[in-house]
Amino acid sequence: MIEIKNITFAYEKDTILEELNLSIENRESVVILGDNGSGKTTLCNIIAGIYPVKNGTVVIDGKSTLYWRKNKIPKVGILFQNPDNQFIRYRVIDEIELTFKYITKTRTMFNTPYDVIRYFKLEDIKNRLINTLSGGEKQKLALACILSYEPEYLILDEPFAHLDPVNEHIIREILREFREKLTVIEVSQKESDFIFNRYIYLSAGKIVFDGDYKKFAEFRPNSFDMSYTINWLKTKGIDIPRELRSKTEIEKYIEENYVKH
Ligand SMILES: Nc1ncnc2c1ncn2[C@@H]1O[C@H](COP(=O)(O)OP(=O)(O)OP(=O)(O)O)[C@@H](O)[C@H]1O
Ligand SMILES: [Mg+2]
Repeated sequence: MIEIKNITFAYEKDTILEELNLSIENRESVVILGDNGSGKTTLCNIIAGIYPVKNGTVVIDGKSTLYWRKNKIPKVGILFQNPDNQFIRYRVIDEIELTFKYITKTRTMFNTPYDVIRYFKLEDIKNRLINTLSGGEKQKLALACILSYEPEYLILDEPFAHLDPVNEHIIREILREFREKLTVIEVSQKESDFIFNRYIYLSAGKIVFDGDYKKFAEFRPNSFDMSYTINWLKTKGIDIPRELRSKTEIEKYIEENYVKH
C-alpha cells in the first residue's frame, strides 16, 4: 500500500504540490490525469523516492521511501516518458547487466541478465549501442530493465507519449501481463482504454477528482481535452504558453505565430 501523507513540495519558490494526501491499495489500477504542469511527474518522482520530501511523508508497505532507498530495495519501478533519461551505459547488454549489479535482491522471475533478454525478446539488439535504437526499442529496453528487478509497484509516466501505434501496442502487451502481478500507477493524457478502476485528476498541485470512470466522464474538465493537444503540439516543436488553455486561445496563438499569410 502507498500512503502519501500531507505532501507539500516546491522546486524553488513556487509550490508545486500542496498538502496532498493519497492512498493506493495493492493491485489497484490507477490513472493520474491532469492539466499540463499540474505536478504529475513531480508526484511520480516523489512516490518512487527520487525526490526527497521535507514536508509530509510517503510510506510504502509500512516504511518510508527513504528506508527502501537506503537499503537498495526496489519497491517501486518508474518508467519515464523519455527513455533517454533512464539509461546509464552505452550498450544494451551492459545496461541490463547493470540492473543486476546495482540490486542484489533475491528474484523469482529473472535470475540472470539472459532471462531478461529472452523474456523481452531482446536477442537481436543485445549488442547494439543504445543511442542507435528506435524510440520503441528504447522504451522496451527501459521497461525490461525496470521489470528485471521485480518491483512491486510500477509507475508509468506517460510511457506512450513518444511511441507510434505499433510500438504502443507492443509495450501495452508486455504491460498487460504485469498489470495482474503489480500495482500500476499510470500518468496519462488520455483515458487509455478505460482499463483503470480509479481516476485521479490533478490541477495546480491538488487532487480535484478521485473516482471511477463513470464519475470521471461527468467531471471531465475542458482543460483535460486540451492537455493532450498541447503535449502533441510540443512534440512538433510548438510550445503553447502556460496561460493559454482554451481551444480558441490556442488556435489564435498558432494562427498568429505559425501560419504564414
Ligand atoms: N526540476 C524542476 N525545477 C523547477 N521547476 C520544475 C522542475 N520540474 C518541473 N518544474 C515545474 O513544476 C511544475 C510541475 O511540473 P511537472 O513536470 O510535475 O508537471 P506535469 O503535470 O508532469 O506536466 P506535463 O503535463 O507537462 O508532463 C511545472 O510548472 C514545471 O515547470
Ligand atoms: Mg509530466
